[in-house]
Amino acid sequence: MKADAAPLPKIVVLASGSGTNLQALIEATRERDFPGEIIAVGCNRPGAFALERAAQANIPTFVIDHTKSDSREAFDASLMAELHRHNPDVIVLAGFMRILTPDFVRAFRGRMLNIHPSLLPAYTGLNTHKRVLEAGDKVHGVSIHFVTEELDGGPVIAQSEIRVNDDDTPESLAERVQQQEHLLYPIVLRWFCEGRIQLAADGVQFDGSLLPSPMRLADS
Ligand code: GRF
Repeated sequence: MKADAAPLPKIVVLASGSGTNLQALIEATRERDFPGEIIAVGCNRPGAFALERAAQANIPTFVIDHTKSDSREAFDASLMAELHRHNPDVIVLAGFMRILTPDFVRAFRGRMLNIHPSLLPAYTGLNTHKRVLEAGDKVHGVSIHFVTEELDGGPVIAQSEIRVNDDDTPESLAERVQQQEHLLYPIVLRWFCEGRIQLAADGVQFDGSLLPSPMRLADS
């Protein structure tokens, strides 16, 4: 816990890979005025670099290896048990490459955020950068949304867009989208920890009012 502070909202980050978003969140939450604290990082891959990043920041980690679970339900039950042990106020999916069961999602309804590399509702699922290029889109981006039972389909809180250039490749798009991710996720997590955003029956409430459309950070 940060020195001389009242208890802060507890954040658990779940990741599967390199953890660049986790790193951005670690750096943001280290700021003295950040209204939340990452209390644990969970991972489904034992060797993921995200675990190393957490360890370097002295954040406790746990691993639930999905290859050791007999079923999706068994994996989710193990993950749920670990999360209940930490009792987080918010679960942040940051490149967590597992589809969660509806029961799991319902248990954390309104308290679980995900980042997805497209301007949802366009391009749910994988390989978004390639699909954007194939479609000839001129605009691409990133979305942060509440997690609901529908894959990549929960109400979108905020988006950031980038322009697609003629010479872009999936890799160059991924790089620019990730730059936006690292800016946007800390902002949205701050809003959540401040109690400014809530999942309502009909969408996202921001400061008590229903958002007519996602908050937008436009690329310059
Ligand atoms: C991000 O691009 C995110 O949008 C997607 O997975 C990637 C995770 O990257 N869901 P990292 O592990 O945070 O570097």
